[in-house]
Amino acid sequence: MTPRILVTGAAGYLGSVLVGRLLDGGFAVRAVDALIYGQTSLLHYCGQAGFEFVRGDVRNEDLVQQSLSAVDAIVPLAALVGAPVCSRDPWSARAVNFEAIAMLARLRSPSQLIVFPNTNSIYGHTASGSVCTEDSPLAPVSVYAQTKYEAEQTVLGAGNSLSLRMATMFGASARMRTDLLVNDFVYSACTARSIVVFDHTFRRNFVHVRDAADCITHCLENAGDMAGGVYNLGLDESNLTKGELAMRVASHVPGCHVELAQIETDPDRRSYTISSAALAGKGFVARRSLDAGIEELKTAFEMWPRSRFGNV
Ligand SMILES: NC(=O)c1ccc[n+]([C@@H]2O[C@H](COP(=O)([O-])OP(=O)(O)OC[C@H]3O[C@@H](n4cnc5c(N)ncnc54)[C@H](O)[C@@H]3O)[C@@H](O)[C@H]2O)c1
Repeated sequence: MTPRILVTGAAGYLGSVLVGRLLDGGFAVRAVDALIYGQTSLLHYCGQAGFEFVRGDVRNEDLVQQSLSAVDAIVPLAALVGAPVCSRDPWSARAVNFEAIAMLARLRSPSQLIVFPNTNSIYGHTASGSVCTEDSPLAPVSVYAQTKYEAEQTVLGAGNSLSLRMATMFGASARMRTDLLVNDFVYSACTARSIVVFDHTFRRNFVHVRDAADCITHCLENAGDMAGGVYNLGLDESNLTKGELAMRVASHVPGCHVELAQIETDPDRRSYTISSAALAGKGFVARRSLDAGIEELKTAFEMWPRSRFGNV
């Protein structure tokens, strides 16, 4: 029998890539999404065998109960994602990012594995020179990181689950996000020939969105060996300061100027160096490079709407 995966938030930046990866990998997918950004990012899967779509809100208990019927595993991506949106609406952030996950963990049958998508921002602001492993202390600062941290604790406590603490993603997706750091810098470089960087010494880690989709698929395929674990997912070669990242992006865009200016500060002040060695020990290593991702994004932003009054 074809294994069926419930993916919530399936029309999002990661979900839109993951759905195709799972269908290609021989899984059936039940995709749930409230389409809060008006996305049409799953349209091209509609005719594919094994694809089902349910439009609805993951806070709706009846909808979640019905969506869980006859699925083998769950990838609950639905969330308000990132510190800025969660700070603007902390009540909705808590309801979607934590309470809906706790409800899902309660409603699912114990045999239904949960692969939880956490963020590595739960490591917070760490001392320079230290390297975060899964055993490092957690210090979530923003509402976003706090709600994701509490959801991870709940999911792991419920058993038959695993958590991926994922780096900031980059790359093209049918639900494009220009607010993610690499995507944002490339967009700025392509459209304004300049990148303004604040908190330029803060260290961050990155991973390609298709590597994230491959990793989730790997977890589903190797659940027997991986369940119960917590795994950092990032590209080890991409532990960079924001300033270094901006210079890297600028090196791909002739004439691009980088300006270091403390015009604001990160809401969660996160800064860390991440090791993904534990995941490598389970057979998965992210393989798409930052440089290839920057080139991919340059192509993507050729197709992206621009202000007719822009200066490039
Ligand atoms: N993008 C990253 O860099 C990153 C890094 C680490 C972890 N994550 C995690 O990965 C997951 C996906 O992130 P993303 O970048 O694809 O974000 P996204 O905002 O593109 O996707 C979230 C999806 O959830 C849907 N959604 C939101 N509220 C909902 C609700 N109440 N009911 C049903 N659907 C709802 C949205 O319509 C959207 O399609 C999130 O859980 C996020 O915390 C993302």
